[in-house]
Amino acid sequence: MNLTTHYLGLTLRNPFVVGASPFCDDVYVARKLQDAGASALIMRSLFEEQIDPAGSNIIASAASAEGDDEFPEFAGYQLVPDSYVRQIEHLKSTVTIPIIASLNGRHPGSWLEFARRLEGAGADAIELNFYHVVTDPTVAADQVETEMLRTVGNLTSTVRIPVAVKLSPFHASVAQLAVALELEGAAGITVFNRFYQPDINIDDIKVQTQLRLSDPSELLLRLRWLAILSPLLSCSLAATGGVHTSADTVKALLTGAHAVQVVSVLLKHGPSVLSTLRHGLENWMREHNFSELGQFRGRLDLDRCRDPEAFERANYIRVLQSWKV
Ligand SMILES: Cc1cc2nc3c(=O)[nH]c(=O)nc-3n(C[C@H](O)[C@H](O)[C@H](O)COP(=O)(O)O)c2cc1C
Repeated sequence: MNLTTHYLGLTLRNPFVVGASPFCDDVYVARKLQDAGASALIMRSLFEEQIDPAGSNIIASAASAEGDDEFPEFAGYQLVPDSYVRQIEHLKSTVTIPIIASLNGRHPGSWLEFARRLEGAGADAIELNFYHVVTDPTVAADQVETEMLRTVGNLTSTVRIPVAVKLSPFHASVAQLAVALELEGAAGITVFNRFYQPDINIDDIKVQTQLRLSDPSELLLRLRWLAILSPLLSCSLAATGGVHTSADTVKALLTGAHAVQVVSVLLKHGPSVLSTLRHGLENWMREHNFSELGQFRGRLDLDRCRDPEAFERANYIRVLQSWKV
């Protein structure tokens, strides 16, 4: 059974990529993940605010003005920029699968030049995560997206290695934005960033920050957008958010993903879950007489749909109308 996939111009032995997370902080863990079957590893993010102290100061003072003293000090980050670069070198000398660095920020500018050091240390690609919650009512949607496009354009012209963009689903026209990102040189789109939404503790009447692991229901939003984006883009697509089983993987591949990124399922079950996922995928392929991913990847995308927008709307109406009480 051939599980090889092409992702960001890299040839991966299977579609199971370890998503951005703390797993690469320890080279021993990274090696274990490789041995368990991971085909590539994405490091935790290095933040714009770490690289550009001016940005950090602005955000830190805004946070303290709100009485929130939890914004990390420079040394409070797990990996400061120099150690991040050294960690890439350690990983590259320990594992043979591709190492993807992760940058997290949104402004075009000089902080992006740090990407050259990531490339120099041996990173095989970079994933750029735009985690941005726009709360300023004077900022229009097109300003946000123009800035994103400039940031991606800056980054793709700074390094020669491929750049993937980890996108949020909260854009008025995700399809247009994804196509524009590809035109700016993005080699891949990762769907979608998960937003960590604070809860409210009603006992002490306080906002409670939390990091909840995903569950498979989160995959559905990703599947819809993979199916829409797949026929529109020639760059790579990865699903992140809610991939917990081999069935989830099959669904993501059928809707057009080249790779699935897994984090929560690894945190819950450990590296051995990778072989469960791989065997499940192989069994499904065997049952359906497929010997390689290309035979079914994208089979359920919206390529053959003459009017995807009408199709989406019709399905929505049909589902609502199907309920009777
Ligand atoms: C503990 C933890 C740390 C994470 N750190 C990062 C990060 O540094 N950068 C990033 O882009 N995503 C980060 N993520 C998000 C994951 O890469 C992934 O997109 C998300 O968890 C959804 O995938 P999952 O359903 O497989 O967990 C993190 C997730 C977890 C659970």
